[in-house]
Amino acid sequence: MRKVATLLVVLAVGLMMALSFAQEAKKGSFKYVGAAKCKMCHKGEKNGNIFEKWQADKHSQAYATLATDHAKQVAAKVGVKGNPQQAPECLACHVTGYHASSEMKEASLTLDEGVSCEACHGPGSEYKNMQVMKDITAGKVKGADYGLIKPTNEVCVKCHNTKSPTYKEFKFAEAVKVIAHPLPKK
Ligand code: HEC
Ligand code: HEC
Ligand code: HEC
Ligand code: HEC
Repeated sequence: MRKVATLLVVLAVGLMMALSFAQEAKKGSFKYVGAAKCKMCHKGEKNGNIFEKWQADKHSQAYATLATDHAKQVAAKVGVKGNPQQAPECLACHVTGYHASSEMKEASLTLDEGVSCEACHGPGSEYKNMQVMKDITAGKVKGADYGLIKPTNEVCVKCHNTKSPTYKEFKFAEAVKVIAHPLPKK
């Protein structure tokens, strides 16, 4: 009897370790897929015009902004030479996932989409699946296990901080209202 019990414990521990390794492996494989992939399900009136609201928000223009004369002046002021659209010092906060390794980026993620969905929600390769999305929203599975992160103040201040050469004081509660894009009420 004792032997069977010990064997069961060993098996259970082994299974738990295997599962946690699987979870870790998944964690490493989340990739940025780009806003066009989110668009197909999050556009249009009946889906709350989420894509359209982001397009009307300055985040979608963050890369384009770097091509303006104003951006060139800002760059010159802080001693950044050359085209701001090619300067790592500027791209760090004006595009999605700039510092992520190239293995973490699908070709469908483009610079010109600027600060897009995944900059705030996390790399979407695993959570963008319809069933996963529904299960996350219904609370059946944890978003974090699929790469979906909560867009908290900590996420915003990775960019909204005094390292920004044009820094404006950032108040999370007010800022969130400016960019609000809720799902439609059911
Ligand atoms: C195949 C369709 C599909 C794609 C692609 C998709 N979503 Fe979703 N998403 C959904 C559905 C459906 C829901 C649940 C909506 C509901 O229940 O009202 C959802 C819910 C969400 C939620 C809310 C989750 C929560 O915590 O409640 C977020 C955030 C989200 N999606 C972001 C994204 C982002 C970012 C992308 C692109 C990387 C994306 N989605 C791609 C279909 C999709
Ligand atoms: C990857 C960097 C990055 C992250 C993360 C980020 N932002 Fe921004 N945000 C920017 C940049 C860059 C601009 C300016 C874009 C421009 O003017 O071209 C901006 C502009 C804004 C604006 C002005 C937009 C407007 O339409 O007037 C608000 C409000 C804002 N962000 C709120 C937030 C909030 C809230 C979060 C977190 C949930 C957040 N941001 C996360 C980079 C970021
Ligand atoms: C630490 C993140 C960060 C870095 C690095 C950064 N930006 Fe920004 N940028 C922002 C944020 C956030 C905003 C929105 C307004 C604000 O708080 O500065 C913004 C807004 C802007 C704007 C438009 C708004 C305005 O008030 O003029 C310009 C132009 C700009 N940045 C240029 C640049 C250039 C050029 C560089 C590189 C020399 C750069 N930024 C580097 C985060 C950053
Ligand atoms: C600058 C950061 C930022 C960007 C860019 C962004 N979001 Fe969000 N998103 C948020 C915040 C903040 C919330 C509110 C979260 C909350 O209420 O917990 C949110 C909420 C959502 C929700 C859930 C709304 C609800 O009612 O529960 C969905 C779905 C969503 N975003 C999809 C997207 C998609 C798709 C894109 C790109 C087209 C996008 N987001 C771009 C920050 C962002």
